[in-house]
Amino acid sequence: MAIMKKFLSLPTDILNSRGLAYSASGDLCLDGVNLPYLTKYLDSPSWVIGADTFKYRAMQFYQMLETSCPRVNCHFAVKSLDHVAILKILKNIEFGLDIVSSGELSRALHIGFPTHKIVFSGVGKTDSELNFALQSNIAQINIESLGELKRLNKIASQANMVAPIAIRINPDLGYGAYKKITTGNKTDKFGIPWNEILSLWPKITEEMPNIQLKGIAVHGGSQILDEKKFLNFYQRIAQLIKTWQNQGLKIDSLDCGGGFGIPYSFNEEPLNLRKLGKIIHKILSPLNVMLRFEPGRYISGPAGILISRVIEIKQTESQKFLILDAGMNDLLRPALYGAQHEILPLKQKENTPNNKYEVVGPICESSDFFRRNYTLPQLSPGDYIAILDTGAYGSVMSSSYNSHPLSPILLAHNGKWDIIRKRQTIEDILSNETLPDWIS
Ligand code: LLP
Repeated sequence: MAIMKKFLSLPTDILNSRGLAYSASGDLCLDGVNLPYLTKYLDSPSWVIGADTFKYRAMQFYQMLETSCPRVNCHFAVKSLDHVAILKILKNIEFGLDIVSSGELSRALHIGFPTHKIVFSGVGKTDSELNFALQSNIAQINIESLGELKRLNKIASQANMVAPIAIRINPDLGYGAYKKITTGNKTDKFGIPWNEILSLWPKITEEMPNIQLKGIAVHGGSQILDEKKFLNFYQRIAQLIKTWQNQGLKIDSLDCGGGFGIPYSFNEEPLNLRKLGKIIHKILSPLNVMLRFEPGRYISGPAGILISRVIEIKQTESQKFLILDAGMNDLLRPALYGAQHEILPLKQKENTPNNKYEVVGPICESSDFFRRNYTLPQLSPGDYIAILDTGAYGSVMSSSYNSHPLSPILLAHNGKWDIIRKRQTIEDILSNETLPDWIS
């Protein structure tokens, strides 16, 4: 009988890199927290973030950078996982942050994050966001258009301040696992075309006294697992920087963005940090500029799971649907990008045959699909599963579509857990809605 083979034969390092392990009694644990036990106390669905795994991955990445380049700063991409507890962990290990909105800046300020370690990216910053960032004395605002630059110069001059900036270039070389997360192509909305830099530079330095030009920023795309893609990308950027330096532009820093991928499939190889470090050392270090990196997913992705309960199993003529209580309202990535996350049963059962399932959510959309034809041990209504690698772009992208309240977030640490975001209630949702007088 094909009993749980797929799961029992999983190499432990595949689970360990995600902070996961099955206990001797077959219970899935994250950072030492027994997840089946947890479900006795908490309704489903729920996000669980492994704080130890998160911290380990952050430090591992930073160590790679420190050994690869003499002057480097690492800014966690807050958009991937923005809970204040996460930001506090990063503060404690002296990380920096990459933010994209005044909301994210408020989160950082809320926990007293040192603002000189914050960079601000994003293609559409409002005047009030620019002003907020300026007044907060953050390290750098990454400028994405001439219009934004002019607005910032005006805001800074009205405040009698000088705004530190980097120009985000569009390198016309994009990469990304899905078309929707490629950002560096000419046709993407991001950055200023690289070939406009030479004419823009003197304009800034000579005509904008309230702007302090620090350097260049760039980000090609997300979820890159092949180090060679980083090699090509960094080579192209290094070449541009050298050409501009030779033309007399003073470039103090280069913000290389993020994009560092993770293996979503058990069959994929993880990004080789040692090789990546060598590439950074060889290509970027000789530029003699201060380097910044903005990893998000690499650090937060494998540290999080989404726990969900089986509501129903529906057998049709040709398929067996595993209907979960988590849907695209919780985890949007599969519906939006066709992303595929591995799924594990929370409890291994002895002598259970495998089944092929269409794993779906409860939302009234055909795209509310997690996996097709996916092998799992036979499950029954009431059983729990974990959708893996959902720490990045998971809870942050969820919604209350179909009036499903937002799911809670738990933080696991050394065998203990805390609820760090309560489950939203339908009353919370309704309390924000009002009826105009004219509707009698
Ligand atoms: N820096 C900039 C300027 C970015 O635009 C991004 C991501 C990052 C850093 C962090 O990238 P990471 O290291 O996490 O790949 N929602 C999509 C991902 C969108 C990424 C947007 N920008 C997903 O679920 O795959």
